Amino acid sequence: MRLINVSEYKYETMVLAKPVYDSKKRILIAAGKSINPKVLDRVKQMGISYLFVEDEISKGIDIDDMLDMPKWTDCIQVIKEYFEQVRDEEEANILPVQRVADQLIEEVKKRPTLVTIPSGAIDQELQPYAHAVNVTILSLLTAKKMSYNNIQMKELALGSILHDIGKMITDEYSSHPEEGFNHLRSNRQISLMSAHIAYQHHETIDGKGAPRQLTDVLEVAQIAGVANNYENHISKEQLLPHQAMEAVMATSDVTYSFHVIQAFSQAVPTYPPGTKVKIASKEDGIVTRVQQHLQRPVVRVLSKGRDIDLADHPTLMIEPM
Ligand SMILES: [Fe+2]
Ligand SMILES: [Fe+2]
Repeated sequence: MRLINVSEYKYETMVLAKPVYDSKKRILIAAGKSINPKVLDRVKQMGISYLFVEDEISKGIDIDDMLDMPKWTDCIQVIKEYFEQVRDEEEANILPVQRVADQLIEEVKKRPTLVTIPSGAIDQELQPYAHAVNVTILSLLTAKKMSYNNIQMKELALGSILHDIGKMITDEYSSHPEEGFNHLRSNRQISLMSAHIAYQHHETIDGKGAPRQLTDVLEVAQIAGVANNYENHISKEQLLPHQAMEAVMATSDVTYSFHVIQAFSQAVPTYPPGTKVKIASKEDGIVTRVQQHLQRPVVRVLSKGRDIDLADHPTLMIEPM
């Protein structure tokens, strides 16, 4: 299985490896099916930009370190309900959201890494909530690398899930961090630290962030800020994972602390399984697994059909194809 942009889809050679869901979380196209051009147009209209497919070169590749789709869509649904309760000024129930936070912490803890499913793989109506789930996973992976304890993980997870909750309270983009902060801090079941993540997630250490131009930005808020940027690079700008990683690395010591960027870059794989790559500037390959070293995956050389673990070959260069 591999992840492709919808524009790369080929009817003749590819079948879906994971289902496509509509905004009601119903399966629109099942795994194992190919998508005819008419249906593909509909998929594009739904704002779906990524597909998991199976084809000749992706045979035998499993992305084990990924949330399964039903779990992912369940989390998205819970977050959507909370966001809508806040938007409609109803009594918003935080308990299910806290359970999602616990679940995501568990998923991150039990695996070496977790590959995020791009929010572009789901109906656009659900994408803001998929973004929240992904930002949380990326934050937690970074925090795990930084040896955060359970309480800190929980505060970070809730703050990350709800970092954009202010957008449900105001239409004014510039006020969403503060509105989010006010909402979260008024709930006694949510720690003040989580509320500050919402308040500071657009602040940067150069003092050019928003809304308060802080220079002393909380570490947790920096983690969520970096995760937020990375997720937007992939989902909104449609950058590839290695390009998004490069963009994030460029912010080290400029807009975010070196140690935060370092932890992020060590926690999130640059070349997830299924990525087409070139090794040693000549051989075409595809990443089959990420095991010993996140940035040095196992690559199948397409011309020879055999796998090379780049962790054992430190001099072989890997580049995007
Ligand atoms: Fe935001
Ligand atoms: Fe965001």
